[in-house]
Amino acid sequence: MSGCKPQSVSADPVVRGAHLVTKVAMCQDCHSPRLADGQFDPENWLAGSPLGFQPLMEMPWSPVAPPIAGLPTLTDEEAFTFLTTGALPEGRRPLPPMPEYRFAPDEANDVIAYLKSLE
Ligand code: HEC
Repeated sequence: MSGCKPQSVSADPVVRGAHLVTKVAMCQDCHSPRLADGQFDPENWLAGSPLGFQPLMEMPWSPVAPPIAGLPTLTDEEAFTFLTTGALPEGRRPLPPMPEYRFAPDEANDVIAYLKSLE
């Protein structure tokens, strides 16, 4: 079919992970702080941020997204479980608006490779 070519997929897990994080799941929308002009702060990419929005009604909510550059809060194994099942250690679940993702195992490994490649 013309106009429906499969995209070439990189052999590098970090490149594949960068695509998933920044173009598919858009983790930066919550986890990257912005400058006064609304652009992402390149110096603090994925370094955690207060959210710029809140719910209209009362509900469980975390007003802050923690740093994920370098994956400082979870081991690789914990991050893999979190990204494939939505479950945190000790059966905790993340507060909204953190999505409970269900990445495929290969995708989760790519996301982890990209995040660990960051400072
Ligand atoms: C819509 C906003 C939003 C998006 C998009 C988002 N997050 Fe989050 N994330 C949060 C918030 C808010 C928290 C804090 C949740 C809590 O305190 O329970 C969080 C928590 C986390 C944590 C910490 C878990 C812990 O307790 O140690 C990790 C890791 C994480 N997010 C990774 C990601 C990744 C990777 C992506 C993209 C694939 C992503 N997040 C996308 C809002 C978001």
